[in-house]
Amino acid sequence: MRLLEKIALVTGAAGGIGRAVALCFAGEGAIVIASDIKASACAETLELLERRGGSGMSVPADVTQEKEIQALYHLIGQRYGRLDIVVNIAGGDCEPASDVEEIDYLKMSSNLDLNLKSCIISCREAARLMKPQGFGKMVNMSSLVYRGSPNQFSYAAAKGGIYAFTRSLAMSLGRYGITVNALAPALVEVPAFVAALGAERWEMLRNECAQRYPLGRVATPEDVARCALFLASDDAAFITGQILEISGGARL
Ligand SMILES: NC(=O)c1ccc[n+]([C@@H]2O[C@H](COP(=O)([O-])OP(=O)(O)OC[C@H]3O[C@@H](n4cnc5c(N)ncnc54)[C@H](O)[C@@H]3O)[C@@H](O)[C@H]2O)c1
Repeated sequence: MRLLEKIALVTGAAGGIGRAVALCFAGEGAIVIASDIKASACAETLELLERRGGSGMSVPADVTQEKEIQALYHLIGQRYGRLDIVVNIAGGDCEPASDVEEIDYLKMSSNLDLNLKSCIISCREAARLMKPQGFGKMVNMSSLVYRGSPNQFSYAAAKGGIYAFTRSLAMSLGRYGITVNALAPALVEVPAFVAALGAERWEMLRNECAQRYPLGRVATPEDVARCALFLASDDAAFITGQILEISGGARL
């Protein structure tokens, strides 16, 4: 087991990728704190991992609210006295693709709040627990759109910001035994995506991407979870400040 008795916080743990990461980490022996804004779906993730022999707790929190993030970390500190791993997954694109002239101020702000500011504040709180213990692994969820994506301006800016922040934090926390890395998946098949698009449009998008990606398919949540596991484990002990593209070769 690669994460035996590690205390691991996973945000967005009710979602497609977050749930896969929570289950994967629990399967590797981690004690998982599953957090999400969706309380009951998050509790379901905990139930699923407990049914497979894992353990942890489920803590609802809205990552766009600084006080809720602080309360989440406070609870972890009180209950476990330490935090070994955080995987900041909560996020999503709040602004439909548009021409640049159509950028909506509020939706743009929501994208930065949900995807970038939440990650920065979560890492700040994690650092407060990890620095004194001289150990920690932070894994942040970017996206392949960090390279730029036409008409996805604020989401791409947020995910690109995560990469810049990850590198900056890696530079400053390395001396405390803390690694900070990011994940950048291309299209991942998650239930929320399929539900939002509807089966037919999803099928078209998936086929179009599968044809473009050299590996001939889109990613599964488990593809992403295994990469998160790698970065959170001792296998990646000497890796920090990196972004791992999980893209099946897309945009090489
Ligand atoms: N699916 C993809 O193709 C893809 C590709 C690249 C990156 N990503 C990123 O992966 C992450 C997970 O996405 P997913 O594909 O699993 O989608 P998802 O919608 O299934 O999961 C997102 C989760 O974040 C939670 N969330 C949303 N707002 C929140 C808030 N304010 N506070 C706390 N939790 C909140 C949702 O409840 C949901 O459970 C996101 O950051 C997304 O941007 C997804």
